[in-house]
Amino acid sequence: MSIKYYADERVFKLDTPSSTYMIGIVDDEQFVGHIYYGRRIEDYHLSYLMRINELPYVPSQNNRDRTSFLDCFPMEYPTHGLGDYREDCLAVKTDKGHTACGLNYVSHSIYEGKKPLEGLPATFGSKEDCTTLELVCMDQILKLEVTLSYTVFEKLDVITRSVQIRNLNTESIVLTKVLSTCLDLENKDYEMMTLHGSWARERHIQKRKIGHGKQSTSSVRGASSHQDHPFMGIASKGINEDQGEVYGFSFVYSGNFIAQTELDQFNRVRAVMGIHPSDFAWILKEQEVFTAPEVIMVYSAEGLGHMTRTYHDLFRNHLIRGEYTHKKRPILINNWEATYFDFNTDKLLDIAREASRLGIEMLVMDDGWFGNRSSDNCALGDWQVNENKLKGGLRYLVNEVNKLGMKFGIWFEPEMISPDSNLYRAHPDWAIQIPGRTASLSRNQYVLDLSRKEIRDYVYEMISSVLKSANITYVKWDMNRQLSDLGSFYLEKEKQGELYHRYVLGVYELQERLIHDFPYLLLENCSGGGARFDPGMLYYSPQIWCSDDTDAIERLYIQEGTAMIYPLSSIGAHVSDCPNHTVGRGTPFETRGYVALLGTFGYELDVTRIPEEDRKMIPDQVAMYHKYNDLVREGDYYRIASYSENHTHDAWSVVSKDKKEALVTFIQVMAEPNYHSRRIQLKGLDAHTFYCIEETKEVYSGEALMYAGLNIERIFGDFKGKLIHLTAVNH
Ligand code: GLA
Repeated sequence: MSIKYYADERVFKLDTPSSTYMIGIVDDEQFVGHIYYGRRIEDYHLSYLMRINELPYVPSQNNRDRTSFLDCFPMEYPTHGLGDYREDCLAVKTDKGHTACGLNYVSHSIYEGKKPLEGLPATFGSKEDCTTLELVCMDQILKLEVTLSYTVFEKLDVITRSVQIRNLNTESIVLTKVLSTCLDLENKDYEMMTLHGSWARERHIQKRKIGHGKQSTSSVRGASSHQDHPFMGIASKGINEDQGEVYGFSFVYSGNFIAQTELDQFNRVRAVMGIHPSDFAWILKEQEVFTAPEVIMVYSAEGLGHMTRTYHDLFRNHLIRGEYTHKKRPILINNWEATYFDFNTDKLLDIAREASRLGIEMLVMDDGWFGNRSSDNCALGDWQVNENKLKGGLRYLVNEVNKLGMKFGIWFEPEMISPDSNLYRAHPDWAIQIPGRTASLSRNQYVLDLSRKEIRDYVYEMISSVLKSANITYVKWDMNRQLSDLGSFYLEKEKQGELYHRYVLGVYELQERLIHDFPYLLLENCSGGGARFDPGMLYYSPQIWCSDDTDAIERLYIQEGTAMIYPLSSIGAHVSDCPNHTVGRGTPFETRGYVALLGTFGYELDVTRIPEEDRKMIPDQVAMYHKYNDLVREGDYYRIASYSENHTHDAWSVVSKDKKEALVTFIQVMAEPNYHSRRIQLKGLDAHTFYCIEETKEVYSGEALMYAGLNIERIFGDFKGKLIHLTAVNH
C-alpha cells in the first residue's frame, strides 16, 4: 500500500516511487496539517515539522492567540475568515450572510483504486495502479462535510487531489470559493513557472522568482485560454532538465481557474489551485454535493525532464481514453489554410485526389460547409449541409473521398450561435446574454447557454444526425470565442453565479455523449487554435489543435511549452504553406515536416497548388511519419537544447522505453558565421549500450553520446533541420 496511516503519530504517509507526501492531525480540535512533500523518505516520524510545540502553540494550550496559530499553521485545506489570513480554499455565504468556515478531521478511509469524479474529467487507474485516501472533515457549525481525496499512482511520481463538499444542513448554503488544492512549503528561493501567450502564441514558458505577496496565473474567460494556462511549477532556482527540484500542478479543468503562490511573513510559500472564485457562487441544498475538479501534482528532484515525462506517462495511460490513445492516427489534410471558406465539392475532391496519391490518409473539411456560411459572420447553429457548396450532398462527398482510400473528417463549432442564423432568429434566449444589455460579440458570435439541457440536447442531435448521415470518422470540435456578458435566461437569479461552471459541465456532458455513441470517432478539440488545450479536454479527445500558428519557428516555442506537460501524441501539428499565413515567414518544407512530426502530424495546405519541389517531398514525409510515429507517440521525450533560451537552435529527442531506439531532431533557427560543428549532449540513452546512427552508420556508446556529446555538422542557412535516428547495436 502506498498510503499508510500511523496512529501513534496521527500521520498519513503517501509514497510514490521517489516522493513522499505527509499529512498530520493535531490538537484536540483535530486540525489537518501539511507536514512534508518532497524526496521519498522511509521514516514517518515527521510530525515535529508542524511545530505545534513552539509558540504560538495549538489552541488547546494557547487559545488567546488562536489567530496566530491559524495564520501560521500549514493547513491542508485552509478556510476563510477565522484567522488564517493567507489565501484560503473554501469560502461560503450562509443564509445570514456570514462567510467564514473551519474544518476539523472526522474520519478517513484508504482504499485501492480511484473513484471517478461525477460529471468531471479525471485521471483513472485500477486497484493495481493506485491507492486513494479520503479525509473527511467537518465544519460542525455549518454542518458542511468536506472530503479531501488524494490518489497516489504506484509507478509514477503523481499525487492527485480533489475535494467534495456535502451540505448536511437543512438550510441551503452558497459556496463562493472552492479551490482544489493547497500546499504550504518552506521557501527555498523558489521560482514560479507558468505558461502564457495569446492567440497564435500559446504556452510560452515563463519563470519568475516567488516574491512576497501573491502572484498568480488565471483565466476568467470561461475557458482555460490562450493567455494563461492551468499549470504551475514551483521550481528551485536555476533548475534545468536534469537537475533541480520542481513541484508541478496541473488542473484537470477547462474553464476559469486560478493558480497562485503566496510568500508569507514566515518565508513560506502557499500554493493554491482551483476554479477561479470570480463570479462563482454555487448553491448547495441539503444533502447536495459539489465536486471540485482534480489537481495533478508531480514532484521531481531530477529537474524538469522527469516532471515532463511523468505527466506524459500519466496522461497517456491514465487520462486519455478511447481507441486512438495508443494508436497511430491517420495522416490528415485539413482544408482551412488551403481554401478558408472558398470551397465546394470539386475543390475538396481535387485536394483529396492529389493527397491520396501522395499517401495522405484523411480529408478534413473545416469551417464553412453548413447553413449559408461563407464567412465567419453567420450561420453558427445552422448545422445543415450547404448543398449549394457541396453539390450532391455530404454523403456523396464522403463516398468519393472513401473511394480514394481516404477517411473523412468534419469541423463543428457546437457551442456557438451567430446572431445571423436561423437558430438565433428562432431562439435568441439561447445565447449567453444579460437581458436588456447588448452583449459583446466576438468573431461576430455568441456562446450558447449550455447550462440548459434543452440546448445541449438540440446541439447534440444536430451533430449526431450529421455524423450518422455519412461515413465520418473524425471530428474537429472548435470553440472560437470566450465567454462574456454572463447571463442565462434560464437560470434563476440566485443561480447565475453557477453559469461559468455549469457551462463547462455542459461541454463535458456533450463530449462524453459523443464519444460514448460514436466510439470509433477520432475527436480533436480546438479553440481558436490552442485556447482550450488542457487536461480536461484531453479526457475526451486524444489530440488537441495546438495553435493556429503553423509557422515552424513559432511552433518551436509553442510546442516546447505545450510538451512541458502534454504528450507529443496529443499535440495537433500540421505542415502548412509558405509564406506562413500568420507570420509571413518562409521556411523549408523539410523543416516544417520535422516540427510537425513532434506532434500528431498532418497537412493544412492546398496540395494542388504548392510548389512542385515541396509536393515531391510529401511521400517521404509520409514514410517518415509511419516510420517514427510509434516512437514519437509512446517514447520518452527529452529537451536537449531550447531555442527560446539560446536563440540559435533547438533540439529534442524521443527515446523508446526499452532505450533501444532514439530519434533526435535538430533545428538550426539562425545560422551563424564561422563556426564548426555543434556538440549536443543526448539524453535518456543507456550508457552501456552502443548506438548506430542510421544516417552516417557511425557507432558510439550511450555514455559518449550523453556525457561527451554528438557533433552536428555545420548547417548552412536559417531554419534548417535534421533528424538523427539511433538504434542499439551489438558491439
Ligand atoms: C479556428 C481554428 C482553425 C479553423 C477556424 C475555422 O480558428 O483554430 O483551425 O478551424 O477556426 O473558422
